Amino acid sequence: MRFGDVADAIEGVPFIDRWHGRALYDHIRESGVRDVLELGTAHGASVCYLAAAVAANGGGTVTTVDRYHFAGPAPEDTLGRAGLLEGVELVRIEHSSYSWWLKNEVQARSDASGNCEGAYDFCLLDGSHDWHIDGLSVLLVERLLRPGAWLALDDLDWSYERSAVQRPPNLSAEEIATPHVQEIFDVLLRPHPSFTQFRVDHGTWGWAQKAPDLPRRLTVQELRVERGILAQRAIRAARRARVAVRRRRSV
Ligand SMILES: C[S@@+](CC[C@H](N)C(=O)[O-])C[C@H]1O[C@@H](n2cnc3c(N)ncnc32)[C@H](O)[C@@H]1O
Repeated sequence: MRFGDVADAIEGVPFIDRWHGRALYDHIRESGVRDVLELGTAHGASVCYLAAAVAANGGGTVTTVDRYHFAGPAPEDTLGRAGLLEGVELVRIEHSSYSWWLKNEVQARSDASGNCEGAYDFCLLDGSHDWHIDGLSVLLVERLLRPGAWLALDDLDWSYERSAVQRPPNLSAEEIATPHVQEIFDVLLRPHPSFTQFRVDHGTWGWAQKAPDLPRRLTVQELRVERGILAQRAIRAARRARVAVRRRRSV
């Protein structure tokens, strides 16, 4: 489906604007993305751009997750308007959060050694914008991304102070004033060993790419060996420290 067709079909549906829709659409087309995850469906506008681009690539899977529907067009209606309902899996979490759903996905795709099989070539995170929820979520998303996949975060500048959403209890003044998504990008993603390329668009969207190397492959035995080496180093260091103390006492 062409960009102009999807943009015209969903004209006026909040939240994403046409410019960001274009950025998403072009990224999916140019990177040949097939499997997409979105966290934060709302009325279904952004997922329409994602699904239209995946369809134009020849097809794939588009999964979008949210917890409840507030007033305004339902995502099913928006996707229906664009003729894209068939190609999208709408996951509705009634009593929890996508961070818990992500945990279950990681567990379902992991072997006994904790190697997680990547499932997605792209993820858009545009949900709670909260440090505690999205900070955990990006770490879980990293496990579900295939090598070379990009993660895009909307609203780097979002803060509780500037938002009308209900605040969780017991937030400090600093937590209310600080843009949480920017902190997630700077403190968790930029130093994360799996992410090797970063981009910021207009100061509001942060993009991080998972290294295009081979996926992590460790066996339980390798993990034990690694722990064994570390344990032996610690024992040797403790022994050296005891000897040094004894020598000092005998002087
Ligand atoms: C800004 S809206 C998403 C807008 C959408 N991506 C678009 O541009 O069309 C954020 C959505 O995230 C959902 N959300 C926020 N926190 C969530 C959580 N912890 N678990 C699941 N959904 C969540 C909200 O219900 C809301 O629909």
